[in-house]
Amino acid sequence: MTNTYKQAQEAVDFLKKILPARPRTVIVSGSGLGDIAEIVDNKIIIDSKEIPNWPSSTAPGHAGKILAGEIEGREVLFLSGRVHYYEGHSMNAVIFPTRVLALLGAKEFIATNASGAINKNFLPGDIIAVKDHLNLMGVNPLIGPHVPEFGERFPDMSHAYNPEMLKILKDLGLKQGVYAAFSGPSFETPAEIKMAGILGADLVGMSTVPEVIAANSMGMKVAVLSCVANMAAGVLPEATLSGQEVLDNMKLYSKKLADILINFIKILNKE
Ligand code: HPA
Repeated sequence: MTNTYKQAQEAVDFLKKILPARPRTVIVSGSGLGDIAEIVDNKIIIDSKEIPNWPSSTAPGHAGKILAGEIEGREVLFLSGRVHYYEGHSMNAVIFPTRVLALLGAKEFIATNASGAINKNFLPGDIIAVKDHLNLMGVNPLIGPHVPEFGERFPDMSHAYNPEMLKILKDLGLKQGVYAAFSGPSFETPAEIKMAGILGADLVGMSTVPEVIAANSMGMKVAVLSCVANMAAGVLPEATLSGQEVLDNMKLYSKKLADILINFIKILNKE
């Protein structure tokens, strides 16, 4: 038993004591999208600082609150804010919450994030279903001693974004795209964006891919909804990028994303 597994167990034991029900679906909200929390019914709010070993976010727009409750009657655990690699957290810390919630029994991992669009057919405000990713963060979050309780040594990533969930999102009218993750925190250069586009990326961001890898390794079904905040660097030659603009735009699009999430969960409930 490695240290990380013991730490995860401590967090699991804490959550088991205070949660009214075992969450079935985990929803992680990205930058500025914490307002989506309003769609959670019958909720209890947990301050993530109280959970043993839980990493705390310093990123703007990331509240660090956890809501346990229901959306359309489905037991969900909503993480309002995530921790990022660019904050200086280890990858182990970045994927700690995902592992804890999988150990707690959650079966589905739905993440939202903010992204820059590389694909010129996408526009700020578009919500895109991520169908695959390029991990350009320079590190894999599973590097380290193998802990069987966290999944296989060499997890398959052929269907990292659950095909049935992707189909539902497609039927809801969402476009699909490939998300390239860079570590940040500097935005990418136009040359990096050009490279990512040539490699097949439609979107770019600084998060989510580590959790997606961890969730897959633990057998969770994964869906990611990416909200386009801006056109990526160099796509509009005159434009410049700012973190504040990303947050402001995400606030504008938060309601649209919440509506899509509700409809998504309504359909999951029928399946
Ligand atoms: N690059 C990286 N991350 C982002 C961007 C971007 O252009 N927009 C929102 N998150």
